[in-house]
Amino acid sequence: MEKSVYVREMFASIAPRYDATNRLLTGGVDERWRRRAVRELAVPAGGRILDMCCGTGDLTFHLLRTDPALKVTGVDFCDPMLDGARRRAAQGNVAGATFVQGDVLALPFPDRSFDGAIMGFSMRNVVDIGATLREARRVLVPGSRFVNLDVSKAPNPWFRRLFNLYFYKVVPLVGGLVGGSRSAYRYLPNSLTNFPGADELAARFSEAGFRDVRYVRLGGGAIAVHVGTA
Ligand SMILES: C[S@@+](CC[C@H](N)C(=O)[O-])C[C@H]1O[C@@H](n2cnc3c(N)ncnc32)[C@H](O)[C@@H]1O
Repeated sequence: MEKSVYVREMFASIAPRYDATNRLLTGGVDERWRRRAVRELAVPAGGRILDMCCGTGDLTFHLLRTDPALKVTGVDFCDPMLDGARRRAAQGNVAGATFVQGDVLALPFPDRSFDGAIMGFSMRNVVDIGATLREARRVLVPGSRFVNLDVSKAPNPWFRRLFNLYFYKVVPLVGGLVGGSRSAYRYLPNSLTNFPGADELAARFSEAGFRDVRYVRLGGGAIAVHVGTA
């Protein structure tokens, strides 16, 4: 099956329990990583921000807690994930968030329509990283930032071995029991296998036309936050 179709259907199957499973698998520490990614975005007050592959809207809601005056658009190609995001916005009475169905490989927005863009735990899932980065840059106002938060390959071999044990063995087990789909939570860790390392991903940012590219490692290097300026 084509990767994008598989990914969309897989997220549709785990959408109902996605948030609870995420919190359990990361022990809630992903909240800290998300806050750091939002800080790196250095959003202008009241600006227009794009949350690419927004899923159930975690980064969107973080952004709006930082500045309730922001106008955040979340885009994702999986309707059940977007339903979760819309439900959370309604329950929390959150104004300022709009959720749109769309593919990040061909964003449904004109050039230069956002003052910042962010993407969380999703770059591993896209079919074409270069095309995704070029789309992010296209929709950004020149001088604004794109921030990508994702799992990475830790540089320390001992830590990497320990992390891989957790990521490739424990995640599918817990994901199967709590998240409702063992195969989905087997796919998710495996998506790291062919994903570029932190240096290579930074190079891909530069190839896509971003400048001042840098990254910070978090969680012992198992997580990386990449930043580029459009
Ligand atoms: C692991 S979830 C991450 C969701 C959210 N960003 C977070 O931090 O929790 C990955 C999301 O990427 C979405 N996705 C994957 N490929 C996509 C694409 N090409 N276009 C739009 N959404 C995509 C999936 O539907 C899913 O909701």
